[in-house]
Amino acid sequence: MDSTTDIDAAANELLKGIDIPPQPAILLTIAQEKKNEYPNIKKIAAEISKDVALSAAMLRAANSPAFGVRNKISSISNAVMSLGLNVVFSLVTALCLRNAMPGKGKQRFERFWDTAADSALACSFLAGRFKVMNPDQAYMLGLFHDCGIVLMMHKFSNYMDILKEGNASTEELLTAIEDRACGTNHAVIGYLVARSWFLPQDIRDTILRHHDETVFTKLEDRALAQEVGLLTLAEHCCHSYHRQSEDLIWSRTGNTIVEMLDITEPKLPPIRRRRPHKKYDISGCELKAVSQDKQKCF
Ligand SMILES: [Fe+2]
Ligand SMILES: [Fe+2]
Repeated sequence: MDSTTDIDAAANELLKGIDIPPQPAILLTIAQEKKNEYPNIKKIAAEISKDVALSAAMLRAANSPAFGVRNKISSISNAVMSLGLNVVFSLVTALCLRNAMPGKGKQRFERFWDTAADSALACSFLAGRFKVMNPDQAYMLGLFHDCGIVLMMHKFSNYMDILKEGNASTEELLTAIEDRACGTNHAVIGYLVARSWFLPQDIRDTILRHHDETVFTKLEDRALAQEVGLLTLAEHCCHSYHRQSEDLIWSRTGNTIVEMLDITEPKLPPIRRRRPHKKYDISGCELKAVSQDKQKCF
């Protein structure tokens, strides 16, 4: 199955009884207001105020030192104005996605969402650096790309074993192992969530193909290859930073991605100084920058 039309047609079969959460109304409101020349901040603030957790997150972000606000912000309207609609949209999406998924409060899921937030920030940072796509869109890509894992974990009681097998495998990609064991995989489920949340088509396609090496070899769609490459690079940075280990997809596609994104020494000067034995390991310098961004956004 390799075309999105086929996926759409066979969605029910591919879902295997997994419930895809619908997009929360608040995201639609913010997305619509973002398009307006004069967005209605009061309307957005009123929607956010209905949710205590969202309101608290908004105030926390607006009052964080990274935004350099002199006087304490205590109203949601002021917080929205201070953060800007792009940051507000990213923040609300991240919290809504987390809340819409099953398994609240379970430690392993908490860790999963922390990792997703790191991927999102890394994607956004690298998108700006390599001009592959809009950083805000890249943030969404990083945040959503593995959300199918949470739904599969909830649905299949043996999914943790499948995940472990996928992480340990040096030959088979996780999606192939999932297909064999569950008849579907997290990239397909993630695609269907992204469709249900009205993410742009290129992000949906990138999520669907994010473990598919043929996007680099066939190169039938260069934009798609670049977005998959960006995500793979962001994931590689997070992997290296947290676990100090190579991931299978990077070991197979890393050289192609480095070439395709034109990752050259002048663009990333600290790499060789920090890790002379690893030519393209950019984890040190990128993640340092990402964590600075993190402080800025959250
Ligand atoms: Fe991932
Ligand atoms: Fe994945």
